[in-house]
Amino acid sequence: MAVQVAGTREELATLLGARGGAGAVALVPTMGALHEGHASLMGLARERAGAEGTVVVSIFVNPLQFGPGEDLDRYPRTFDADLAVCERQGVDVVFAPAADEVYPGGEPQVTVEPGPLGTLLEGASRPGHFRGVLTVVAKLLGLVRPDVAIFGQKDYQQLALITRMASDLCLGVEIVGAETVRELDGLALSSRNRYLDAEQRERATALSRALYAARDAGPRGLAEALAAGRAVLSEAEGVELDYFEIRAVDLGELAAAVPPQTPARAVVAARVGTTRLIDNMPLVIGTAAAEGSS
Ligand code: PAF
Repeated sequence: MAVQVAGTREELATLLGARGGAGAVALVPTMGALHEGHASLMGLARERAGAEGTVVVSIFVNPLQFGPGEDLDRYPRTFDADLAVCERQGVDVVFAPAADEVYPGGEPQVTVEPGPLGTLLEGASRPGHFRGVLTVVAKLLGLVRPDVAIFGQKDYQQLALITRMASDLCLGVEIVGAETVRELDGLALSSRNRYLDAEQRERATALSRALYAARDAGPRGLAEALAAGRAVLSEAEGVELDYFEIRAVDLGELAAAVPPQTPARAVVAARVGTTRLIDNMPLVIGTAAAEGSS
């Protein structure tokens, strides 16, 4: 059956009600400008919902998560192409509301406070961003009432915060993180890659090259991995670094002397031209053999 589109809460409730609640409901929240990374989230959603279940994709550019001077106005809006991706991926329902459908009274008075994890990294660079993300995700979960919701690991801190919100606020939904999809040269797929011209697109590979360099140096120790990643970025032309950090998997600080084979996450944010890009990668710090040498 062709994908069905709901623009209002009422239409959404009607479409979901008409499906009769047979199988599980899997939600993929997006801001549109869909690419193969999103397509992979939809594939995972279908796996989780099953053939009988319902896959819902929301497309909503959420004003609440953009700060002053950020790219809310120029964020790519490609609805027809997005619908074609959803159709190809066998999505059942697309929920594409206008802003006043999501925020009928204007800015909500009650919002979701991200807590300490929301103040680090992206939270430090983009004040208010995660409050906006968590608030809209809580609303989308309330409107769709899915059994499972799928998010990309590309936005690793966002995924960590949404997982924490679902658990801390007992939202009764399973949050699943899907692996980042990359171009052949390593660039993580992102809707914002569309802003890059050919030269910037080439320069943007510095982010993933830095992550791979850190990952490869990980067995030698934390300082070595950090130095390897930062060296790539400091040599990269036209890349203005915001941060390159190696954190624990929950994004807490790692002690300088980490135990051997500590799982960690390298995270990076940088500006290429006027476009701010982020990426991250799992890595392991220290091997038993290298212990004591770092
Ligand atoms: O990752 C995104 O596209 C957005 O932050 C999300 C989760 C859809 C909330 O607006």
